[in-house]
Amino acid sequence: AESLEDLLQRLCAVVPDYPEPGVTFRDLTPVFADGAALRQVVDALIEPFAGQFDAVAGVEARGFLLAAAAGYASGTGVITVRKAGKLPRAVYHEEYQLEYGSAALELHRDELPEGSRVLILDDVLATGGTLAAASKLFADARVEVVGYGVVLELVQLHGRAALAGHRVRSLLRLS
Ligand code: PRP
Ligand code: HPA
Repeated sequence: AESLEDLLQRLCAVVPDYPEPGVTFRDLTPVFADGAALRQVVDALIEPFAGQFDAVAGVEARGFLLAAAAGYASGTGVITVRKAGKLPRAVYHEEYQLEYGSAALELHRDELPEGSRVLILDDVLATGGTLAAASKLFADARVEVVGYGVVLELVQLHGRAALAGHRVRSLLRLS
């Protein structure tokens, strides 16, 4: 049978010069669209952290899909880490740099009790700026990050270094 890595390699679409010239964009929407792939991805992302987290956080937008499925599969709640300006109540706020531009993420201040443990999911680890910012939000909230799960790690962008000290589960590594 085809390995998960081979399945992901086959489904991941490569888009040159998106969203701007010089960036090679990896599009994982075909992975989400494939029922068998989606289930294997979600199971593989939570497996190393089983029993170690009280909630799953997803980073807007594609991380939401993974976190919703992972929360359902593991029986935990789902926390939304959102782009700035989307959450209606008091938030923690973190600015960060992207491979293409800058942005800010926010987390509701009262979403999780202090001392709880969260697994953070996203589709792609590139520079790591996004997940490092998400991590700071949970540090502000006194919530422990037990690790990160991503479908695709773009190894040449050294995102793992930006997440030093935390366990990172990635299912496909590409340069
Ligand atoms: C992409 C991706 C990750 C992030 C990875 O999201 O889904 O969240 O970039 O890049 P980094 O490791 O260099 O921070 P994007 O910011 O494009 O937002 P979207 O999901 O709302 O399209
Ligand atoms: N694909 C999806 N998200 C991303 C990428 C990519 O290639 N690079 C940075 N974020």
